[in-house]
Amino acid sequence: MAAKTSREIGTSSRSIRGLLLSLGIVVTIAGMSACSSNNAEGTSDGAGATVGSGGMGGEGGAPAGPTPYELFLKIEPDLVTNCNICHKKGGSAPAPFLAGATPEERYQTITFWPGIVTSAPEQSILLTHPESPNHGGGEAPKIPENVKPGVLEWLTAEAEALPPSNPADIGPSVRPFRTLPGGALNTVYLDALGADFEYMSIAFFAETLGGSSDAPTMLRLTNITVHPVVDKPLHIVHPLFTVYVPGQPGDPDPVDSFSNLDQTFTLGGENTLGTGELVLTNWQKGAYLGIAFELIEVYGGNAGPGTGCNDLVNFQQNVVPAMQTCMMKCHGGANPQAKGTMDLSELNAMMPTAACQEVRARIKPGDPAASQILQVTDPVQAIVHMYKFDGDLNAYNAFKTKVEPWIMAEQQ
Ligand code: HEC
Repeated sequence: MAAKTSREIGTSSRSIRGLLLSLGIVVTIAGMSACSSNNAEGTSDGAGATVGSGGMGGEGGAPAGPTPYELFLKIEPDLVTNCNICHKKGGSAPAPFLAGATPEERYQTITFWPGIVTSAPEQSILLTHPESPNHGGGEAPKIPENVKPGVLEWLTAEAEALPPSNPADIGPSVRPFRTLPGGALNTVYLDALGADFEYMSIAFFAETLGGSSDAPTMLRLTNITVHPVVDKPLHIVHPLFTVYVPGQPGDPDPVDSFSNLDQTFTLGGENTLGTGELVLTNWQKGAYLGIAFELIEVYGGNAGPGTGCNDLVNFQQNVVPAMQTCMMKCHGGANPQAKGTMDLSELNAMMPTAACQEVRARIKPGDPAASQILQVTDPVQAIVHMYKFDGDLNAYNAFKTKVEPWIMAEQQ
């Protein structure tokens, strides 16, 4: 399955868009050529500094190029002719990216299909996959040569309309994506957040509401669930769902529905995110949905919380003294959330077996740099954590020096 390739972090064409936006040039959703011609007209009329002024509509009188959807409509009949037989709903290929009875419905499924709309359009699986001699067991066609330029033009326009990757600015985020509404199941993979998040996902059903079916005003998500993988508990604090209308800055959930959420998910455990429901009252047709997190982290790598320590003596001699700071205070019980996350209440026991096990679940034995206790407390790493030695790099380094030998010793 190519199901997780599409949400990669991409920045390429985005910086130019950002620049144009900050200059007050409204980028509609068309390609860059349309934007730069707006720009040229604006500057040549001698009216002064503000180019294509007015922050809102983007119509601005200047001829905007075709929208990505319009470009799609140009090649849609060719895709249907060449690909539909296998790639329609219920077709023989296990990839119904052309599901739907109308061009508009097909647009929805094809733009949602993982790997088709990508920040690097030439890497879209729509272009690369059919070139493979194994496509459909060697039985399936390529995109005809005369259709390819139109497909690339469309995918390029889609790539340029992709929202920036992290505008919600509260913490790490997944690249905004198109949702499948109409009560369909949506799965968002978290891989782009780092290697630890591989194969993890958040899933939900989405449905547009309000307004008219052509101009919905709300997006309702139900059954929002979180799916970690085996032995890797996933800790999420304050997820923020954000609506991205192409060409406009992200618009976060107006009521910040999950602002108080702090949950840890384990495979097979309770997996509903908060109430499991969310209504975004700032939805618009054609918008993208993004999710940012104040904190999202994976505990313990492969060790798993159940694994006992190999070198308790080393832990007791080096790590226990190094943790007699806020770490002990917060994780020892003063802060219930911190204690729930890593319970150090028995750190100072005669035999700190339980605490050692708790801490061991947050390291990668043999690999200090990949160990969470050193990552989240690092003052220069952008991972959200309440305690970072108050920004004191020396104190952090002293901690690191004490802890590293134990992390090495835990490797068998
Ligand atoms: C004869 C049936 C058939 C036709 C016609 C066909 N395909 Fe496929 N396609 C398949 C099958 C089967 C698979 C899955 C096996 C594979 O990976 O090749 C597939 C897979 C794909 C995938 C990968 C999907 C994914 O998520 O990994 C893409 C992209 C694709 N096809 C594009 C096209 C395009 C574009 C056309 C039209 C030019 C087309 N196919 C026509 C049978 C077909």
